Amino acid sequence: MSSGLSLISVGLSSEKDLSLKALEEGRSCDLLYFEAYTSKLNTSMSALRSLFGKDVTELKRSDLEEGSREIIEKAKNKRIGILVGGDCLTATTHISLIIEAKKIGVPTRIIHGSSILTAVAETGLSLYKFGRTVTMPLSDKGSVDPVIEAVCDNLEQGLHTLILLDLDVESGRFVTVGDALKALIKSDDREQINDETLVVGLSRLGWDESLISVGRASEIAEKDFGEPPYALIIPGRLHFVEEEALHILHGCPKELLKERRVLSQIDELISKYASSCERVINELKMRTLPKIIHSEDAEDLINHARRYLDDALYFASVKKPTALVSISYCEGILDALKLLGLVDFEW
Ligand SMILES: C[S@@+](CC[C@H](N)C(=O)[O-])C[C@H]1O[C@@H](n2cnc3c(N)ncnc32)[C@H](O)[C@@H]1O
Repeated sequence: MSSGLSLISVGLSSEKDLSLKALEEGRSCDLLYFEAYTSKLNTSMSALRSLFGKDVTELKRSDLEEGSREIIEKAKNKRIGILVGGDCLTATTHISLIIEAKKIGVPTRIIHGSSILTAVAETGLSLYKFGRTVTMPLSDKGSVDPVIEAVCDNLEQGLHTLILLDLDVESGRFVTVGDALKALIKSDDREQINDETLVVGLSRLGWDESLISVGRASEIAEKDFGEPPYALIIPGRLHFVEEEALHILHGCPKELLKERRVLSQIDELISKYASSCERVINELKMRTLPKIIHSEDAEDLINHARRYLDDALYFASVKKPTALVSISYCEGILDALKLLGLVDFEW
């Protein structure tokens, strides 16, 4: 490619994360830019200049969002490279540069690199089980509602949510893990995210001094995560290997994981039984009445209730939340017998 536009990933932490391919590409460019506003790296313009052996121009948000056409035009007869923190295409805006370049026949090249979107695997949470990723905006730049919506949608499907925490590198403003958690807890009417929710706070993944901390939202919100960049994960349903990783690698207390397992089993049971009850209530058809009921029919039902009681006692002895379901069945059958006037008792 003698002229054209290259997006070159720097990687997660500093110029040391550049791949050999990225280095070669940057060195072969006539003009090299560094997009420094979608992420924060532990590097400097002078480090980049000395590594690439040429001048590197820093791009601000307005240079790329309003002035992208100018840069793409230059790429018609020059080889232009734009260095981007992390992977160059994980910031939502940059694919539009490629689209614009293609539209006017400018050749393009993409050099991929390490990214926060894959580095979160270091938590032990499976990348295959993440749902939609969202960004928590700075308080004057947007609402927390879309973040809550994404977390709730993901949780409904048992999926984890990665929440990127907005930054404004130029003015040195960052949403911290504590800011994000407090805003989520305050605004979540559905209380999916509360003080007790298990969360994972992250800072500087891929840097020498990175931090991953797992615990209850109320504790993680008070923790000092040091220098930015920050991110937050609200885990969904956990596989036992994920639980083990959170415990062994990141010190998540075992009791917290156990409590959560029981709560999530209860949630699963409720949604399973609620949907079948809803269907039956909507579909059931009344039989022609009156109907003769023999005492054996009532006794059969009483035995049915007795078996549910036995099940409940067994499940309770092995600490299974299904105990609650079985005992509710038993109670429901006894109530039905009483309401139909077939037995007498008081609760
Ligand atoms: C717009 S995204 C850009 C992602 C970048 N292109 C990448 O592939 O990693 C920037 C957000 O990602 C998160 N982030 C980026 N690098 C991070 C890191 N090393 N550790 C923790 N979070 C990071 C922060 O929430 C930051 O606000």
